[in-house]
Amino acid sequence: MKVLGGSASPLLASRLAKDLDVKLGTVDTKRFPDGECYVRIHDDLEREDVILVQSTRSDQEVIELLLLQDAIQEFRVRSLITVVPYFGYARQDKIFNKGEAISARALIQAIQRNTDTLLMVDVHNLSILTHFDIPVENISGMLQIAQYLKDAGAEMVLSPDEGSVSRARIVGQIIGTSVDYLEKTRIDGETVKITTKMLDVYRKRVAIVDDIIATGGTIVEASRQLKDQGAKEVIAACTHGLFAQGALQKLEKVVDTIISSDTIENETSAVSVAPELAKAIKNYQ
Ligand code: R5P
Repeated sequence: MKVLGGSASPLLASRLAKDLDVKLGTVDTKRFPDGECYVRIHDDLEREDVILVQSTRSDQEVIELLLLQDAIQEFRVRSLITVVPYFGYARQDKIFNKGEAISARALIQAIQRNTDTLLMVDVHNLSILTHFDIPVENISGMLQIAQYLKDAGAEMVLSPDEGSVSRARIVGQIIGTSVDYLEKTRIDGETVKITTKMLDVYRKRVAIVDDIIATGGTIVEASRQLKDQGAKEVIAACTHGLFAQGALQKLEKVVDTIISSDTIENETSAVSVAPELAKAIKNYQ
């Protein structure tokens, strides 16, 4: 077995190879002057079981993933498991307004064509799994996040909206704290409105748990409520730290600690999803 990592997930790929105790392959990726992507694999993958790891946060990362799958299949590998730790476009999982694309489905159709199995982590909405015609598994990053929050002494877990409350419940159960959620209305891509709700947070260290932090708008609003109600500390924790449009700078003003997993590798990636991915991959061997 060999693990290969695309340019979006080098650290996670190396951690996964270590956890699986297999070799990490060497991949070159670069851009031509016109912006097109080029990939080359330096290992011989003939008859190998291959694990490819690449998050698809940007369109370029999607293209790179497709090219890597193509390059891998040229070797006539025995099997390919594609791990897309952060599966981009998963939030456009249905038609909200007439004339739109179901972007998640379009991506799934392209990515599943050249792989035997697909693994992803904390996908935004499980309903997109119905678009797959190949075996697919959604791995939870919440176990590692819960462990971090337990060690950090979190005393209450809050989901910023009802949609994420099941993830928050998993965390609360592991830490052994109470769990609550807020009512969120999304106004547009950057603005959210959170209804005021009395919470049992006075003088508590509270963890807000979400799948994604993108612009940070959701966490900023939730954290303001917590601080207004006397929370002594707010930790914002998510699986996928996208941090778009200066989100980190915004968040640092209202949140005491920000952590994410290594599905998107960045300075807040305090926990790794590699152990959970390795466990899942061992089941396919
Ligand atoms: C939405 O339902 C997700 O679970 C996140 O709450 C959302 O993507 C966060 O976005 P932002 O950071 O831009 O508020």
